[in-house]
Amino acid sequence: MFKVIRDEIDAMMQRDPAARSRAEVFFCYSGFHALVLHRFAHLAWQRDFRFSARLISQFGRFLTGIEIHPGASIGKRLFIDHGMGVVIGETAELGDDVTIYQAVTLGGIAPSINSESQRERNRHPTLGDGVIVGSGAQILGPINVSAGARIGANAVVTQDVPAALTVVGIPARVVEHKDIDVAEVFRPYGTPLGDLPDPLVRSLEGLVEHVANLQARIDLLEKASEKKMKKNK
Ligand SMILES: CC(C)(COP(=O)(O)OP(=O)(O)OC[C@H]1O[C@@H](n2cnc3c(N)ncnc32)[C@H](O)[C@@H]1OP(=O)(O)O)[C@@H](O)C(=O)NCCC(=O)NCCS
Repeated sequence: MFKVIRDEIDAMMQRDPAARSRAEVFFCYSGFHALVLHRFAHLAWQRDFRFSARLISQFGRFLTGIEIHPGASIGKRLFIDHGMGVVIGETAELGDDVTIYQAVTLGGIAPSINSESQRERNRHPTLGDGVIVGSGAQILGPINVSAGARIGANAVVTQDVPAALTVVGIPARVVEHKDIDVAEVFRPYGTPLGDLPDPLVRSLEGLVEHVANLQARIDLLEKASEKKMKKNK
């Protein structure tokens, strides 16, 4: 049990550039609290303590702003970053190492919530291993988002997403991505590593440009004053 918790904390630290210590994750990460409470709620749900399971899940929602139905099946090392507004429906299934940002819905599209047959059916998405879901994305219905896929922030996804592809927009469409190693390395926010401009390099580049401009102005002034001196002679 402790090993599982430790692994999950370590996975969160690896995936969040802002996490500095295990203690910080343990005490301050809503996604971690929601996951631990879900593990208990899911256990109660599987043993048919349905009401207790819902109570634990509701307590988790109150505490974290993350609503995970106790029936949802969640793999190892799920990381819900920030978390507020995340909703994971009853028949959702998540593989290992899934990352979800705030305000994401893994929702159902049942035509009738009163129909018994509909209740039994899979109404929610299935996410494969290593899927990354950007903030505000809505993944709706019993669709498959295959391993390593990335869902852009605010996308609305209602169709299957093939493995290791990136989809964005409403309705979600596949986009080309800059590099190929999608599933090989975890990339915070789903974006390529190392493509952020270094602030120091940017400042130096700004200085060099400024000096070049000054040099050009000095050259102009020197030429103007040389002309003036020649005229005066
Ligand atoms: C979808 C995502 C993973 C793509 O990252 P990427 O591989 O670096 O892709 P690029 O930035 O090269 O974008 C590729 C194309 O998709 C578009 N695009 C990227 N993200 C988009 C989004 N969320 N919605 C709509 N279009 C998007 C880009 O404009 C670009 O379009 P173009 O080819 O017409 O120019 C990333 O943009 C994203 O949304 N990550 C989630 C970030 C997040 O939720 N952060 C919250 C942290 S708190």
